[in-house]
Amino acid sequence: MSLLKIENLNVYFNLQSGRFQALHNISLELEKGKILALVGESGSGKTMTAMSVLNLLPNTAQIDSGKILYNNENLLEYTPKQMQKIRGKEIALIPQDPMTSLNPLYTIGNQLIEVINLHKGLYGKDAEKYAIEALDAVKMPDAKERLNAYPHQLSGGMRQRVAIAAALACDAKIIIADEPTTALDVTVQAQIISLLNEIKNEFGTSIILISHDLALVCENADDTAVMYAGSIVEYCHGKDLFFNPKHPYSQALIDSLPNIEQENLKTIIGTPPSIRDNFLGCPFAPRCEKKFAECEKIKPTLKQIAEKTSVSCLLYENFD
Ligand SMILES: Nc1ncnc2c1ncn2[C@@H]1O[C@H](COP(=O)(O)OP(=O)(O)O)[C@@H](O)[C@H]1O
Ligand SMILES: [Mg+2]
Repeated sequence: MSLLKIENLNVYFNLQSGRFQALHNISLELEKGKILALVGESGSGKTMTAMSVLNLLPNTAQIDSGKILYNNENLLEYTPKQMQKIRGKEIALIPQDPMTSLNPLYTIGNQLIEVINLHKGLYGKDAEKYAIEALDAVKMPDAKERLNAYPHQLSGGMRQRVAIAAALACDAKIIIADEPTTALDVTVQAQIISLLNEIKNEFGTSIILISHDLALVCENADDTAVMYAGSIVEYCHGKDLFFNPKHPYSQALIDSLPNIEQENLKTIIGTPPSIRDNFLGCPFAPRCEKKFAECEKIKPTLKQIAEKTSVSCLLYENFD
């Protein structure tokens, strides 16, 4: 059952220099208790997609068309007040560095308890007990003592645990984790990802995992959307992205993963386009090893090619 469904989302930036499209017809489905990964190079539109769901787009951005269905209601029709009730409570954001979402002037306890007051209606000792339970659930060592710590006194990994504890404390149904491990070292990265997996299994939380780290995504996602230049170029299930990538961009990403021998490590030539670039054909064509003449002229659209696989590439389209 899908809990969150994005349908044909188009987002533009209205800048002094003009109007530029940042997201092109994005459609995604997050199922209950699953991890949906958004993967792609920097600038491909992953954060914009997440911010559209949370109604936290920059002022210069404008949703032109599309739907974001949560429990079959279109969040784009919600008032700011209605959205406030969803954000943080139903749908929680775990940012790259929670230093940006935690208040440096208040202790972890103050901040967690505030969330619990607001969302759980618990106060005093009850709220404190709940905060400790939430910190225990995210395996925070010495949970009780940590309540008195300030954000800067914690490591990056522990701050991520606090952010996840806050999401648990208000029974978030969806956690959007935007590059949650990018700022962490490799061992801590693995711990945070395994924590997200445990939370998914234990509480049935649905997770949107945003990452440019393909290895991490391939290991953990139930479904994956590969993004390029504000579009989804491939949508696939399970480990298909790793074992059977369809789009030349996905194939190039997989080929660039380091292997055990560290041999033949390929890089994708060129750089991703900017939203200011206007393409008649496929935005990946200039970097694509498999392009042919039509690729520069015809824009491919995302087409389903197998039960749980869609791809946006002319190689998979029949035309004369
Ligand atoms: N405030 C902004 N003003 C103009 N362009 C922006 C702004 N924020 C993001 N963009 C552009 O939108 C595109 C998508 O950005 P983003 O979603 O942040 O990418 P990702 O998260 O995949 O790295 C990029 O080309 C980026 O340059
Ligand atoms: Mg981003």
